[in-house]
Amino acid sequence: MTRGFRGIFAGAAVSWVVAAGVNVWAQAAPAGPAAVPAEAAKMKAAFASSPAAIEAGKQLYTKYCRFCHGNTGGGDSTMAPKSMQPSNLTDTTWTRGSSEGVLFWVIQNGAPPKYDMKGLKGKITDADAWNLVHYVRSLGGVPKS
Ligand code: HEC
Repeated sequence: MTRGFRGIFAGAAVSWVVAAGVNVWAQAAPAGPAAVPAEAAKMKAAFASSPAAIEAGKQLYTKYCRFCHGNTGGGDSTMAPKSMQPSNLTDTTWTRGSSEGVLFWVIQNGAPPKYDMKGLKGKITDADAWNLVHYVRSLGGVPKS
C-alpha cells in the first residue's frame, strides 16, 4: 500500500538504467585481443616447476578448470557447456602455444578469440597462475625441454 504507483515506476526506471548501463559496458569492453599477444610467449615463469608447484596447481585445476577440461585435462568433461569444446591439455596440439608465458596469459585473460574460457585475473594470485602453468605443462602434452 505505501509504495503505490510511484514506487513501481521508480523500480522500473532503476531497472532500465541498470540494463542500459550493462549494455554500454558490454559494448565498450571487448573480451580481449583476437590472439595471445606475441610478448606473452617471451614471459618466463616467476619460479621453476617443482613437485610442490605442480601439486598446488593440481588443487587449483580441480577448483577452476576441471569443470570444462575434465578430470585429467583430456578436454572430455561432460559438464562443459555444449556450445564449447574445451581443449585437450594432454595432447601435443596447442592452438595458442604451449610456452609458460602463453599458458600464463590464457589462464589470466581467457582463450581468444571467442573467450568462452574466461581469465582468472584478479581472482587468483600471479603465483597461483604460475602453479597452474606448471601443472598443465606436467600433463604430458608439452615436450620436455
Ligand atoms: C568454461 C569452461 C572452461 C574453463 C572453466 C576453463 N577453460 Fe580452458 N578452455 C576452454 C575453451 C572453450 C578453450 C578454447 C578451445 C578452443 O580452442 O576453441 C580453452 C582453452 C584453454 C587453453 C588453450 C589451449 C590451446 O591449445 O591453445 C588452455 C591452456 C586452457 N584452456 C587452460 C585452462 C586452465 C588451466 C583452466 C583453469 C584455470 C581453464 N582452462 C578453465 C574452456 C574452459
